[in-house]
Amino acid sequence: MYSYLLLAHSWVRWAVVLTVLLTLAASLSGWVGRRPYTRTDTTLRSLSTSFVHLQLILGFILYFKSPITTYFRENARAALANSDITFFGLIHFLLMFVAVVVFTIGSSMGKRAKTDALKHQTVALYFLVGTLLIFVAIPWPFSPLAQRPLFRPF
Ligand code: HEM
Repeated sequence: MYSYLLLAHSWVRWAVVLTVLLTLAASLSGWVGRRPYTRTDTTLRSLSTSFVHLQLILGFILYFKSPITTYFRENARAALANSDITFFGLIHFLLMFVAVVVFTIGSSMGKRAKTDALKHQTVALYFLVGTLLIFVAIPWPFSPLAQRPLFRPF
């Protein structure tokens, strides 16, 4: 089960990255270009938020199945000496959790905002912060914090 979860979590990452970037680009261009808030904007915002929530659920289950995070939970003091284990046991989990909260608040505040300009502005600002957080917390092969493959083979 662990390997399937890891595979899913690794691939859903691309759905998250793609849709949050599209939502961010659409809201920034809508805000700067004073464009009406369209049905496409709504679809992008809710699609990206749904992928983010799916990834959160997969991440939580993985947190209790992964040998890395299990070791961290059971031997936290010793595990803190290992940067890879500390990354997945603490840093990745905390940064991603904050990012998910930021996306969720931005999405729901954007939905409720009174004017189209305010909708674009709200989504743009919250998604900018959320996107920066996930880009720092993803274990890219070039990340200084922890490295994992870009594409995990099936
Ligand atoms: C939008 C949110 C998230 C993104 C984009 C994301 C992305 C990733 C990526 C790309 C990996 C590496 C996968 C691989 O080895 O191929 C990973 C690993 C992991 N993630 Fe996340 N993650 C997110 C949220 C979370 C959350 C909230 C948790 C915990 C509650 C979590 C727990 C883990 C764990 C435990 C691993 C490592 C598992 C292992 O190597 O054994 N993730 N994540």
